[in-house]
Amino acid sequence: MSRPAYRSGKRRQDPASARSRARRHLAAAGTSLATALVLLLSVGRAALADGFAAAVRLGPGVNILGYDGIWEGHADSPFKERYLDLIREAGFRHVRINLHAFKYMDSSGDLNPLVVARLDRVIDRVIAHDLVPVLDEHDFHFCQSNPAGCDARLSAFWGQMSRHYSGKAPSMLFELLNEPGGSMTAASWNDLAQRLLGRIREVDPARTVIVAALNTESPTELDKLVLPASDRNVILTFHYYKPFKFTHQGAPWSQKMSNVRNVVWGDDADKQQLRTDFDRIEEIARQQGRPVYLGEFGVLETADINSRTSYLSWITQEANGRRWPWAYWQFDHDFALFDTSKERWVSPVLKALKMHPG
Ligand code: GLC
Repeated sequence: MSRPAYRSGKRRQDPASARSRARRHLAAAGTSLATALVLLLSVGRAALADGFAAAVRLGPGVNILGYDGIWEGHADSPFKERYLDLIREAGFRHVRINLHAFKYMDSSGDLNPLVVARLDRVIDRVIAHDLVPVLDEHDFHFCQSNPAGCDARLSAFWGQMSRHYSGKAPSMLFELLNEPGGSMTAASWNDLAQRLLGRIREVDPARTVIVAALNTESPTELDKLVLPASDRNVILTFHYYKPFKFTHQGAPWSQKMSNVRNVVWGDDADKQQLRTDFDRIEEIARQQGRPVYLGEFGVLETADINSRTSYLSWITQEANGRRWPWAYWQFDHDFALFDTSKERWVSPVLKALKMHPG
């Protein structure tokens, strides 16, 4: 079932072919080198894909590899490459690769070459399976508690990644940071996000970049996100885990939630709340003229299965109806969509996810 690498990047090759067309015209006209350079640069700029086209290509997706030993060199690594086939066959079109990169960076901010090679391999395989990769920097715990340290590391990370992938894997999207928040402020995040975007654009101008607002699921925070108006190749993202008491009931890592049980979801008020939240996000995105990506949502296994599946169906239906691409949290580990010990889908959860509108 292996497909040729970088196949899904086909539609993103327009910039290159536009450039080669420009080159031919220039040669025929005998234009000077300086003029040619100016023209090539402007073709590059004009060819910057817009975020809406990239959002359409994303479609339904799933989060992968966030807590997998693959980054350490395959020790304790339940995720197998063949699962990419299953993911594609189930109807998903993209994967959001959750990388906690900071722990693999040296003191000058360079990512360990072994980890870069592993990431290259993952991205190559994802594309070979006709899936779109989203590279999500997932060090949100660190960033939320140490904004200054986060600024330095995130800048180094995206500097390196944009140079490394410049001209490669054109279908891949970059997501600047998973869930900015905590002690970060809207102003400091706007400043950092704009600098990161600028850094990426210097070397990788056609890359689609995904940016979250502070405190991801709060629609009012999305309102405060300020990005360069001239950059149309950006997608806004948010995560939805409301009501937290329902989606995170029994979460062993949360003192507040670990003993919570039997919270159900699905009455009219619950559904209306979800619609109201999504309507608000849709409205803000419309005002900003940008597409939306629902990058995470899910319900822990501890919830009642009927409420869980009903919630997942509603979310995906509401997202599909708004033409938002989405990614379920997460393939394996907790909230699992796939049981790696039995190597099979958690089928009620898979069935609950509505892959297409209607
Ligand atoms: C969060 C995080 C993810 C976490 C999940 C469930 O939003 O992005 O790392 O495991 O949601 O709590």
